[in-house]
Amino acid sequence: MIMLVTGNELLLQAQKNKYAIGAFNVNNMEIIQAIISAAEELNSPVILQASQGGIKYAGIDYIAGLGKIAGRNANVPVALHLDHGTDFDQVMLCLRHGFTSVMIDGSRFPLKENIEFTKRVVDIAHAVGVSVEAELGKIGGTEDHITVDEREATMTDPEEARIFVEETGVDSLAIAVGTAHGVYRGEPKIDFDRIKAIRELVDVPLVLHGSSGVPEESLRRAISLGISKINIDTDVRATFAKGVKEFLLENPDEIDPRKILGPARKAMKEAIKKKIEIFGSVDKA
Ligand code: G3H
Ligand code: ZN
Repeated sequence: MIMLVTGNELLLQAQKNKYAIGAFNVNNMEIIQAIISAAEELNSPVILQASQGGIKYAGIDYIAGLGKIAGRNANVPVALHLDHGTDFDQVMLCLRHGFTSVMIDGSRFPLKENIEFTKRVVDIAHAVGVSVEAELGKIGGTEDHITVDEREATMTDPEEARIFVEETGVDSLAIAVGTAHGVYRGEPKIDFDRIKAIRELVDVPLVLHGSSGVPEESLRRAISLGISKINIDTDVRATFAKGVKEFLLENPDEIDPRKILGPARKAMKEAIKKKIEIFGSVDKA
């Protein structure tokens, strides 16, 4: 039995040994259980992450409570992380509720303001032993209509990344390299050279967001170039929805939530296991 570990404890090991930790978004008990049982079966460390929306839906007491129970009962290392915290007070609340890692997303600000916004959180989180992820560049949703130039403009600049990490003291950095949140309409075009260039100038673990729907080979290549944390939300949501829909189509009169949600939980576990295998964190617990 081990308690929740910090993001740093997992990511520094992953960075050193060239694999990635899967960070899966959580909104309810079934998703958390699916993630933990997948990680346990593969003897892999894992990150449970709750977005501000997830916290709003479930309530911070429930999310933090479930995360802590998962960390205490799991036989693999688990971190509880705030995903895309855009609000200072929300981050403070997560620290108070026992999150062991937080993301402060100041990507909407120009560089100088993003540095100030992020550093304020880093100073406080570090004082209580919590790891901090920040974002530089803009990881948006999938937008077909944006031009190549517009796309380039949102991506992380390697030199700015160096300055940002040095000045904020942040523990890990989410970079914009061509992935996007949500369902891709075509194949994502990842700028692998940019990952390499950032890796050469920045020494903290790098994080890939918007990783659902990214082909297996691209994920492996991104990891080989220095990505140490991979965020997955959409693929798990889609698996959950498919599981519930299929069950109800076959059993339209069923009313027992356990019977309705059980198959979806099992399907999510299998989908998460496939991701963990790609990330290379099997037997790294
Ligand atoms: O922060 C969450 C992730 O970036 C999830 O992105 O929904 O495309 O998997 P995704
Ligand atoms: Zn994200």
